[in-house]
Formats: sequence, structure tokens, C-alpha cells
Amino acid sequence: MSDTPPVAPDSRDHPPMRPIRVERRAIDESASRHANGPDWDRYADDYQSTHGEFLGDAGFVWGPEGLTEDDAGVLGAVAGKDVLEIGSGAGQCSRWVRVHGGRGIGLDLSHRQLQHARRLDEATGIGVPSVRGTATALPFADASFDISFCAFGALQFVADIDRAVAEVGRVLRPGGRFAFSITHPTRWMFPDDPGPEGLVASQSYWDRRPYVEVDEESGEVSYVEHHRTLGDWVALLAAAGFTITTLLEPEWPDGHDRVWGGWSATRGKVGPGTAIFGADLLRR
Ligand SMILES: C[S@@+](CC[C@H](N)C(=O)[O-])C[C@H]1O[C@@H](n2cnc3c(N)ncnc32)[C@H](O)[C@@H]1O
Repeated sequence: MSDTPPVAPDSRDHPPMRPIRVERRAIDESASRHANGPDWDRYADDYQSTHGEFLGDAGFVWGPEGLTEDDAGVLGAVAGKDVLEIGSGAGQCSRWVRVHGGRGIGLDLSHRQLQHARRLDEATGIGVPSVRGTATALPFADASFDISFCAFGALQFVADIDRAVAEVGRVLRPGGRFAFSITHPTRWMFPDDPGPEGLVASQSYWDRRPYVEVDEESGEVSYVEHHRTLGDWVALLAAAGFTITTLLEPEWPDGHDRVWGGWSATRGKVGPGTAIFGADLLRR
């Protein structure tokens, strides 16, 4: 593993698994997908063994601060509703939806993450129908869902974010609900370091060039993460016909000493690490 330059403000939640070079440069949708699917396949086993207990097999955690949907209530009531999770991983959140009476369905780019979903379906007896696919081309008919959400799911991994948000608008019924958590955009000013180094701004908030890892051996792009400012998110949602009702910036709870990538008490006590948006699709 090579050293990541301290100026690289990625919000990757796991260390690269091969020697890499870090760059900030434009990357299109196809290259982002080509890199991130295999990256999540490689990382899935480690991700689930490291974070599975914290997430809960049928739990709904919005981010490293540990805020749950039981406490946040961003989705609204899910009972009797058709609910799509985008970037569903092992389906923990969608299993929570099913426990609460919703018809939760998952979609994820990573085959290995979906194998973990199947494993947990069998272990819990709560099955989440899931498909392999990408956020920018949802394989569902128009107006199929009442609610769609992402808990640190696909959104920061796609280049074509207008398309991804438009796809959510397409598959939601009029008045439908969209909720998602992402790395708080202000975090992109700082190195991805859970210690005091991560409190010293080193990068422009307005630099939208994605964080890119290049495999030193193959020369191929091996991981990509995209950054949008808070203003960008407001504009994106408004342009796709959503009215924003909620922006949560969870505080780091007292006594919570978990370190998750660049998230920690040291940083979390000073500023937000996660942003959670809730928005309603206008009735046409
Ligand atoms: C940080 S995980 C979050 C998963 C789950 N919500 C959780 O809390 O464990 C991000 C997920 O997004 C998926 N993903 C990345 N890019 C995607 C894309 N373009 N379309 C759909 N899923 C994607 C990854 O495979 C991964 O499972």
C-alpha cells in the first residue's frame, strides 16, 4: 500500500487494498463504475466483518455517528410502501424496512455485497429481493416506488449525478420520498485522517474534481469518489422536481468511540461528518 498524500481529502471508508497513486481529475460515469464495482467486490468481506455488527443485520444506521432511522424518521412511515434502496450493500437497511412492514427492495453494483445480502437473508429469515445494477440506470418501471433511499450508498460513487437523481424521480410515484446520507460536503476540505491532522483544512471546498486512485501496477483507475457542495445538492434536487424538507447533520454522540475511516470522536466533536437529506417529489 502506498502512502496517500496528506492533501488528498477523500472520504474513503477503507484503505486501498493494492499499491495506488492518488489524483484529483475528471472521470466519467463509465470509468467510475468500472473502478468501483470491482473495488467493492474486493472490499465487501472486510467491510461486512468490520462494520456488520455496528450496522445490525436488520438495522438502519445512517452513518458512522450511529444515528438510526428509528431516531431520525427521515423516510416517514414505511408500512405498506414500496421502498427502493440504492447502493444497498448487504441489505441491512432494507431488512429494517421489511421488519417495519414496507416492501423493501435493494440494488447494488457489487456482486459480492449482494452475496452478503443473501447470506443475511438466510441468517435472519428476512429476505430482501435485490438486483445488481447501477444508480444511473435503475431497472424499474416509472412510478414504481413510494420511497427511495441511500445510506452512504451509490451517490458519491457516480459521476453522472444528474442522471442518478433523475432516475430516482422517474421511479418514484408523485409525492414520493427520497432520502440519502453522504459524506458531509465540508469534509472534502480536510485530509481523510481521523486524528488531529484531519482538522486542518488543506483543500478547496469548491474543487469538484473527483478523488481518484490509480493502481500502480496496472495503471488502471481502481477507485473513484465524487464531491458536490451543499449548494450543488440543493440545485440537483430542485432541478429534478424535489422539495427539500430535511437536512440533518448528526452530532457525534458522547461516549461513541468508534473510528470508521476518517470519522472519529476527535473530528466528529468539532464538525459534521455526515449529511442526511430528505426530499419530496412534487406531485405532477
Ligand atoms: C458504503 S456502502 C453502503 C452500503 C449500505 N448502505 C451500508 O450501510 O452498508 C456503498 C455501496 O454502494 C454501492 N455502489 C457503489 N457504486 C454504485 C452504483 N453506481 N450503483 C449502485 N450501487 C453502488 C457499493 O457496491 C456499496 O455496496
